[in-house]
Amino acid sequence: MDPGDTFGALFERGEKADMPFETALTKALDLRVPVVAAPLGRGTSAEFLGAMASSGSFGFSALAHMPEDTVSDELAKMHRATNGRFGANLTLVVDQRKRLASALDAGVRVFSVWQGDIEPYVRIIKDAGGLVFWTVGSPEDAARAKDIGVDFIVSQGREAGGHFVGSAPTMSLLPSIVDAARGVPVVAAGGIADGRGLVAALALGACGVWMGTRFVASKESANHRGYKERVATARATDLVETEIFDPVGQECPHWVIRNSTFNKWEEAGRPPNGQRPGEGDRISSFPNGKPLYRYNAAAAWDTMEGDWEASPLYASAAVELIHDVKSVAEIVAEIEATAEAALVKTSHLRTSR
Ligand SMILES: Cc1cc2nc3c(=O)[nH]c(=O)nc-3n(C[C@H](O)[C@H](O)[C@H](O)COP(=O)(O)O)c2cc1C
Repeated sequence: MDPGDTFGALFERGEKADMPFETALTKALDLRVPVVAAPLGRGTSAEFLGAMASSGSFGFSALAHMPEDTVSDELAKMHRATNGRFGANLTLVVDQRKRLASALDAGVRVFSVWQGDIEPYVRIIKDAGGLVFWTVGSPEDAARAKDIGVDFIVSQGREAGGHFVGSAPTMSLLPSIVDAARGVPVVAAGGIADGRGLVAALALGACGVWMGTRFVASKESANHRGYKERVATARATDLVETEIFDPVGQECPHWVIRNSTFNKWEEAGRPPNGQRPGEGDRISSFPNGKPLYRYNAAAAWDTMEGDWEASPLYASAAVELIHDVKSVAEIVAEIEATAEAALVKTSHLRTSR
């Protein structure tokens, strides 16, 4: 590889990196690349997780988006597609003990938790011999992770796509969390879309990256194709920070691409929840037939009928780096090539003086 290469030239030549990475993350999950796909709501299908596992990386399913009585079947499909190489995410704003029990019964041993009181869940997972990732947004939480028994901290910068807990952007939050983590390895999330972001995160002390928006725009994700195209064509200026797509009691801000629901709410003078325009509009139905109303937190999925554009189009400023919908294998190969290029370029900046 020529250090004078542009990043684009590397992809055009289809050049692949031959530099494997070894970090606490790759060792714990037996990965070739320190890359994890964030849970993507209904977008995280068995096919998507299978593609992540085959690429030498790893993905997390989003259990909160599965009705409790479907969790066992869904996880069995994911188990088959990945040969057991996937994790499960629990959003702890509601009681998730039944979903956790089903996941443990299904053989899942890698979990990600966030929001709410994580301690009882961590105890159950550790007693079952599992591994726990905890998504945090402040150095104060990071400092508690070791005593709680957390294996990996996920530092979620405030630019992260979807709901976020980060108190500061990745560039400043990540090193402050690494400093506070008391040796617990830290994975970086928020605004990362390629290998340059991976190398930057490693330089800031992370052991890997956790990426959401980039993988929404992948061929295998089960997100709606219109949503994927919006991610691939949006600019950062199309993003808005809001709290309108809030599941009950979550009170957690989120980044979305501006859409018709946000515009309606803005035109109405930004009223509080309960007075938002069109709250009773049925925009679609869930696969089990239940109505899906405007402002629901569910992101548009592949077979969704009705007004998919009215649903939250979660995305981060990483859209500045995402211009197409590619396969997971191509995305991971691009991460490797750009990471290697970034390492070569930075090594050439050093002088012998
Ligand atoms: C469509 C979508 C759905 C998400 N759903 C969840 C979720 O259910 N649980 C969770 O812990 N994080 C969720 N996140 C946030 C991610 O875990 C992660 O923090 C974020 O995507 C990282 O920023 P990035 O989008 O810039 O890569 C979601 C993100 C997106 C884009």
